[in-house]
Amino acid sequence: MSVVDTLGRPVRDLRISVTDRCNFRCVYCMPKEVFGRDYKFLERRELLSFEEIDRLARAFVRHGVEKIRLTGGEPLVRRDLERLVAMLAQANEGLDLTLTTNGALLAAKAEPLRAAGLTRVTVSLDSLDDEVFRAMNDVDFPVASVLSGIDAAAAAGLPVKVNMVVKRGANESSVLAMARHFHGSGHILRFIEYMDVGSTNGWRMDDVVPAAEIVAAIHAELPLEPVEANYAGEVAKRWRYRDGGGEIGVIASVTQPFCGGCTRARLSAEGRLYTCLFATHGHDLRALVRRDASDEELDEAIGRIWGARGDRYSELRTEATAREPKVEMSYIGG
Ligand SMILES: C[S@@+](CC[C@H](N)C(=O)[O-])C[C@H]1O[C@@H](n2cnc3c(N)ncnc32)[C@H](O)[C@@H]1O
Ligand code: SF4
Repeated sequence: MSVVDTLGRPVRDLRISVTDRCNFRCVYCMPKEVFGRDYKFLERRELLSFEEIDRLARAFVRHGVEKIRLTGGEPLVRRDLERLVAMLAQANEGLDLTLTTNGALLAAKAEPLRAAGLTRVTVSLDSLDDEVFRAMNDVDFPVASVLSGIDAAAAAGLPVKVNMVVKRGANESSVLAMARHFHGSGHILRFIEYMDVGSTNGWRMDDVVPAAEIVAAIHAELPLEPVEANYAGEVAKRWRYRDGGGEIGVIASVTQPFCGGCTRARLSAEGRLYTCLFATHGHDLRALVRRDASDEELDEAIGRIWGARGDRYSELRTEATAREPKVEMSYIGG
């Protein structure tokens, strides 16, 4: 059963946050001053169980979801994640089942995740400069361990993409070194504009490095040409190295918003459905699964919520809206 929202957009991707906790404190996501020792994370009993996630995922697949991404917080801090991957892979044949991770625990987990049915992985890495990287993750975590995670994923046969958030004054000087390192590696490097997600990272428009500036800087050394999108609604704009060294992507959600093609739903770790990354309100689906609602009831609820959707926050963003309260990315799932 397919469903479209009030702007005619179907639901194709589901991002599932499996935990709101993380072993990093990236300055643009979970700043230490806020997510310190006194921060109230969700309790274990509040999290959806793997069985509950599986049940909800099937309902979304019935509505047309073709791709599921496990995220968080840091998804690999949730114990036995490969068991969830196996459940989702077995229940939904042909599903594109992927994971976004900071890579810290990936070296040990890559092979079990692939064996369980993961189809690919995205690893976040903001710099190759150890000092810059340690300052950005703010837990003194070394670059070398993330690179080992990337190698382990590739060795396990998982296609790898690398995400780099670029923040003015923090890691913009690392852009070229990252491009050089992944040029010819077979891994697609994607540059992400620093976004005003959540209310705690102190976002300012001045800290955003526009994607056009990033592309121009790389193009000056490693000439690029644009590539057609893989599919309608792809968020990353694709560029290919003219020398055959592969491609990069840029996610310009601030300077070139792409709400018009947005087909993403987000399920928080406690089972709230958010229809936009910048939403302030989520719809409680956990209550339905915990009272053993029928498949028909679940389908009706998802169809009703998606059918009423009209979000296009990024297209309407101003400095003023950026200061409005929003849920944190670590909670909603990046
Ligand atoms: C919230 S994280 C969750 C998964 C995992 N912990 C990781 O870092 O890959 C998902 C993605 O969101 C990105 N992200 C977090 N805060 C952001 C922000 N303020 N602007 C842009 N991207 C952000 C991260 O760099 C990461 O690639
Ligand atoms: S971006 Fe990912 S690794 Fe960094 S703090 Fe947020 S959830 Fe953790």
